[in-house]
Amino acid sequence: MSSGSYDRTRVPASQRLMSREATINSDGRQIPVIMDGREVLVSPGTTILEVARKLNIHIPTLCTHEDLCVVGNCRICTVEIDGHDSLAAACAWPVTEPLSIRTVSPRIRSVRRHMIQLLLSNHPGECHSCTRNGACELAALAEAYGVDEVVFARNQTAKVRDASSPLVVRDMNKCVLCRRCVRACIDLQEVGVMEAVGKGDHIEIQTFGNKRMRDVVCIGCGQCVSHCPTAALVNSDDTATVWRAIDDPSRHVVLQLSVEVQVALAEIFGMEPGTVQSGQIVAACRTAGFDAVFDTQLAVSLAVEEQSTLLIKRLKTAFQSDNRENWPVLSSDCSGFVRFMEYFNPKILKHLSPLKTPEQLLGTLVRTYFAHHFSGDPSTIVSVAAVPCTSRKVDADSPLSVTRGEKNVDIAITTVELGRMLRSAGVQLSQMTPRPFDRVLDAKMPESLTPYNSMLHLLMGAVYRKLTGNELNQNVEIDYEAPFSVPGAYIMRIPVIGSTTSDASATFASMDEITLNGGHLRFGKCEGTANAKRVIEDIARGGEFSRCHYIEFLACPDGCFGGGGHPAPTGRQIRQLRKEAYPVCMSLPDNERQWFESHHQQWRSGTLDDVLTRDHFNTSYMPRGKFIK
Ligand code: FES
Repeated sequence: MSSGSYDRTRVPASQRLMSREATINSDGRQIPVIMDGREVLVSPGTTILEVARKLNIHIPTLCTHEDLCVVGNCRICTVEIDGHDSLAAACAWPVTEPLSIRTVSPRIRSVRRHMIQLLLSNHPGECHSCTRNGACELAALAEAYGVDEVVFARNQTAKVRDASSPLVVRDMNKCVLCRRCVRACIDLQEVGVMEAVGKGDHIEIQTFGNKRMRDVVCIGCGQCVSHCPTAALVNSDDTATVWRAIDDPSRHVVLQLSVEVQVALAEIFGMEPGTVQSGQIVAACRTAGFDAVFDTQLAVSLAVEEQSTLLIKRLKTAFQSDNRENWPVLSSDCSGFVRFMEYFNPKILKHLSPLKTPEQLLGTLVRTYFAHHFSGDPSTIVSVAAVPCTSRKVDADSPLSVTRGEKNVDIAITTVELGRMLRSAGVQLSQMTPRPFDRVLDAKMPESLTPYNSMLHLLMGAVYRKLTGNELNQNVEIDYEAPFSVPGAYIMRIPVIGSTTSDASATFASMDEITLNGGHLRFGKCEGTANAKRVIEDIARGGEFSRCHYIEFLACPDGCFGGGGHPAPTGRQIRQLRKEAYPVCMSLPDNERQWFESHHQQWRSGTLDDVLTRDHFNTSYMPRGKFIK
């Protein structure tokens, strides 16, 4: 593994915290800690909260989030330490000496209740009409500590609710000043929309320049929403528009379900994260009134076929002309990352793949194939996409997301919004009788396409197969490199030359030194826009990532499994469970792949019919710079 030449001082605060333990623990010294009578040895620097979690002792928290650096400002996690007069914030107290700690006592309970009562005195108390009702961390604390009345006089000046953005609604009346949104936006994503302004009683969370949400440079990832403990920040709600379409008998409302939505939706119905009930979800959506329900995974397969073809074509061009301009190719399937590039890196937009996102691709198939074969009037079709994040709402409204004068996707709704619709339709998800997905194309469509563990793995498999004639399976040794010691950014090297058996090898064998970097294809992966900044800087200075052929960027931690449109609160374990819900599969089964590839070839050559052409697969980008456009 290469150490790289990465400047570690630029790691965001939250990620410096993650690597802190490894640094502090290097001498192997252990410190004894007694917590509620149980003794444990811990490394120096471990916080009291981490000790508690190690012992499965619950300490309540509010401002702390495992993705973010520690601020220690809510004091809900307060504990007693023997020999110390004042109470300690467990999340912000590193163990540096032997300690005896109590996490439960009359004094601790009283202080925590007091803090909750103070927070409630600054809260509007509209729980019955709040969209986070049932998932609000402040309400859960109040319930757990038996705070059933507002003891202190309400001390709040009403603030104007900002619903100006089509993505995020801000209601600072519900803000508890935990600064989780600030840390998510500045540290985790390095976008910097939110900031804490003022001092003491006058402190408040504002957008940059205190502008309305629609007037700030926001990539729409929704991480502020998924890290907010209350409803101070929520996704905008487009369900009323969908209901209007469903209730209109003259409209044919079709819904596509992103694969990540299928993984996360069950959480809204009280099931464990990672519970996949695609068949029940299809049945529930039909019950709610959707006329057809499609699986976005078809478009993922289409995107993989297109992307692999484009990538190989560029490899050939690079070989023939000795031209490595615009390498590496950067993925375009994450809308948040595309916005990030348009705002912060407009000069290298030419590196972005021209392919539409899977949702937009499926919307294109709906507007072309489905509309062509639809027995009614195609203009009555309303195309709805259930997506894992808010940034895809921007795509739906973009003037660039149009096929033959019609929007590819009319309305994009998040997992949370779809869950809300299904609940209001009286759906009990686990009780539904599973139904198969509807077919976008024609009767020859396979019943289902095989689940995948990531679009990047499918792409790697497709490129490898096309270059070598072989499958990318466990017999192929893939090298991993992590040039930066931050989580979420790495490179995978796949040997191509020497393993080739097809005619392609003759073409590509001589490309070795010029293009394939020693006979390897190099695929990069990067999650989180803070990491994306590092990778893009690395490409600019000719570092390890600049030698990749393709890099997949996803704007959120753990990619779309951590998308801002999923239920909150969330954390690493929940995201991991969602990820694991997909069985690992590198490619489609043979018969389905052959079916798909033959159709794809016909699409590409235009021989299937003239409904859909290759141009329909591509989009273009808007170099916004740091201005609102
Ligand atoms: Fe520890 Fe807020 S959770 S101070």
